Amino acid sequence: MAKLIIQQSPSLTGKVRISGAKNSVLPIMAASLLAEGESEIQDIPALRDVFVMQELLENLGASTSWNGKKGSMKVKADGLKSYEASYELVRQMRASFLIMGPLLAKMGRTKIPLPGGCAIGTRPVDLHLKGLAALGAQITQEHGYVEAYADKLIGARIYLDFPSVGATENIMMAAVLAEGQTMIENSAVEPEIVDLANYLNAMGANVRGAGTDTIKVTGVDKLTGVVHGVIPDRIEAGTFMAAAAITKGDLFLENVVVDHLRPIMAKLKETNIHIEEIENGLHIMAKDRCKAMDIKTLPYPGFPTDMQAQFMSLMTIAQGTSMIIETVFENRFMHASELKRMGADIKIEGRSAVIEGVDRLTGTQVKATDLRAGAALILSALIASGTTEISDIYHIERGYYKIEDKLRALGANIERVSE
Ligand code: UD1
Repeated sequence: MAKLIIQQSPSLTGKVRISGAKNSVLPIMAASLLAEGESEIQDIPALRDVFVMQELLENLGASTSWNGKKGSMKVKADGLKSYEASYELVRQMRASFLIMGPLLAKMGRTKIPLPGGCAIGTRPVDLHLKGLAALGAQITQEHGYVEAYADKLIGARIYLDFPSVGATENIMMAAVLAEGQTMIENSAVEPEIVDLANYLNAMGANVRGAGTDTIKVTGVDKLTGVVHGVIPDRIEAGTFMAAAAITKGDLFLENVVVDHLRPIMAKLKETNIHIEEIENGLHIMAKDRCKAMDIKTLPYPGFPTDMQAQFMSLMTIAQGTSMIIETVFENRFMHASELKRMGADIKIEGRSAVIEGVDRLTGTQVKATDLRAGAALILSALIASGTTEISDIYHIERGYYKIEDKLRALGANIERVSE
């Protein structure tokens, strides 16, 4: 099992290019199932989750080809031969469930294992199923699998009880080939939803209102493959911003959409971090120890739950007492106990965490319990005295492309070792 070994590091300085967004790539790869002809998706980070999705598409009968040098993937899904997803793949990645909408629309049928819970919560799929049922799918659940079929999907008006990102995406992808108009109300408004809608529209779909809380989809007869570059990863960018803040560094981030980062920038500005917008990028400079802050995670444009763990790291050495309220996932504080092993002072009560800033953290052995928890441990390790050893880094590799190389280039003492 590979580990990251991190020594206390100097302030990070230099330039870093942000990769394409994992959370855009995965739904867009799933959506490529809808097209006739070939699609090419560009600026894809070479991450484990991307290759799980590729295997899933291949198993369904799509042909794919990965160009590692360009970071692009071609997908052609003309001759799909299967409508079933394997448990082995869905178990590895919840986002596999995003093939449900496209398969229903393209093949009129799908069978897919119910994704189980994961480290951050139970994560049900009821809203996905409710939306697809409203479009006319007959859905049954047995032996841990969901089966759905529909001779023809018919547009409908769907209200989501919560603006779920995955449910919005699945319903949108099913609706593009449905008959008539679908309206998704209280839809998610994340930038990744807009990226997916742009890809679908480029293929010939008629999706309006993505990025607002009401999405209107008018069904079309067919979609055709296109070339599409995905948006930059706002969570990777946020993680490097937090790295600059925690190490009192001076970083230039290239390939970012500044508007997508406003919720993160607003919090950093509150805590003494200097941020300057430059062309296609951001300059982040931190001179002093940051001030305590309070955050409440919310769907976009609120503060992202995917940045909560990294900000907790920042708060552990901030001046004063900080508070976090996690409203999106019910069990997303697993990193707190690992940070406490490094000397952090954190109290958890339900969905709230109170963090008393301490003067220093100390390196030790810790384990990544999920993707963003792992990123938080890396940030803390950069300033902890001595050596930190992070195990279970496969979680981190699901979402951060070459993180150790990128950090090392900025001056971090970080090494990946395989045992
Ligand atoms: C996506 C992101 C993930 C991010 C999350 C919230 C991808 C691949 N992953 O996950 O990184 O943390 O958005 O921004 O894009 N829920 C239900 N029923 C449902 C669906 C969701 O109750 O049918 C609940 C979930 O349990 C959770 C909340 O809604 O508490 C948000 O989930 P959702 O927005 O669906 O997140 P994902 O799409 O799974």
